[in-house]
Amino acid sequence: MMNELKETYQKLIDENIESKSIEEVLEILTSTFPDEVCFSTSFSFEDQVITDYVKNSEIKVFTLDTGRLFEDTYNTWNLTKSKYKLAIKAYYPNPEELEPFIQDNGPDSFYRSVENRKTCCDIRKVHPLKRALMGNKVWITGLRAEHSVARENLSQFEWDESNQIIKYHPILFWTTEQVRDYIKKNNIPYNILHDKGFVSIGCAPCTRAIQPGEDFRAGRWWWEDASKKECGLHVHK
Ligand code: ADX
Ligand code: SF4
Repeated sequence: MMNELKETYQKLIDENIESKSIEEVLEILTSTFPDEVCFSTSFSFEDQVITDYVKNSEIKVFTLDTGRLFEDTYNTWNLTKSKYKLAIKAYYPNPEELEPFIQDNGPDSFYRSVENRKTCCDIRKVHPLKRALMGNKVWITGLRAEHSVARENLSQFEWDESNQIIKYHPILFWTTEQVRDYIKKNNIPYNILHDKGFVSIGCAPCTRAIQPGEDFRAGRWWWEDASKKECGLHVHK
């Protein structure tokens, strides 16, 4: 039997919500689910665009501070906070999980095995994400189709079975140029790493710049086999 939220999701799809503008969709979502819509930001180019769209809404904005972010990411966070006067809630890893993991494996064990890397991502991102999503019905993200093959096949609206939540990716089909133009036109602060060859930005030890022509996610967990490169935040069927 379908659960109630999944039914509402299906209804929104049947009503062709995907054909509406971002502003219209945000309006529908916040009136259908008052105080139950959240947006996760990593202060990437994409997320900065969405922050600008949600700035005057009641949508809850949160970030997952893994403790290993770039200094430039923290700078972007500061600039964003000052510009928008938004309450950006930060979620942190549970020290009861993190401390023994670091004690046993050292601070950079992610380079040694995929298993260690996944455990680190679980502790620093996935578990805090679960806490952040609690009590929400809609989760807005900055995923873009251009970023990876797995993401090319997504739709703007997804039913996320593992988190039992509706996911909305407002700028899924925007091109890099559209994102760049929007940021420039609206004078939005952004992570200056984007000017230095960084495309997809995650934790500092696990992200590097890419060369022209390289795959967008080539700079993430570059030492791993490409098929393993998701951190578990976004699980695609
Ligand atoms: S990841 O799965 O590889 O880590 P990616 O960096 O592409 O994700 O970001 C995709 C979307 O996931 C972002 O637009 C944002 O909504 C969410 N996200 C990723 N990292 C974080 C973070 N540290 N805090 C909050 N949201 C994040
Ligand atoms: Fe840990 Fe790297 Fe994953 Fe960040 S991206 S949580 S440092 S393994």
